[in-house]
Amino acid sequence: MVRLCLIDYSERNINLAKEFFKEGNLLDKICFRVGDAISIGQEYRNIDILFLDLEKVRYLEAIQTLEKNLSEDGIVIADNVLYQGKVVFEKEDRKAKVLDSFNRYMSENYFSVILPVRDGILVGIKK
Ligand SMILES: C[S@@+](CC[C@H](N)C(=O)[O-])C[C@H]1O[C@@H](n2cnc3c(N)ncnc32)[C@H](O)[C@@H]1O
Repeated sequence: MVRLCLIDYSERNINLAKEFFKEGNLLDKICFRVGDAISIGQEYRNIDILFLDLEKVRYLEAIQTLEKNLSEDGIVIADNVLYQGKVVFEKEDRKAKVLDSFNRYMSENYFSVILPVRDGILVGIKK
């Protein structure tokens, strides 16, 4: 069974997502959770795909906390990893610094690639 869990702080965004999945007749395959994705994410085991699009300053914390919950061949996908180019050109920016640490962590611990699509998408699988 394919199961997708959406976790967001914002109830409004979760309700919006529900509307879209309802239109696609997919509501029974999805769980919707309101709250902190890093805390709630730890309730799930054997995650096949972990998609990160949360607060940029928490990307490193997110992967270091949740990687134990990935399945053996689990894939990590993270959005905005180039952060408008600031990761390369504005290294002192607070969010850019964390994203740079996240990207380095992923490079060291995962087979990973950054796709230069829009804001940068990282795809990784554990080494
Ligand atoms: C850039 S939006 C992306 C939303 C969605 N992935 C999309 O592309 O439409 C970021 C969302 O992450 C949520 N968010 C940020 N940090 C979070 C956290 N630690 N736990 C849960 N949600 C979080 C915000 O409420 C916001 O809705």
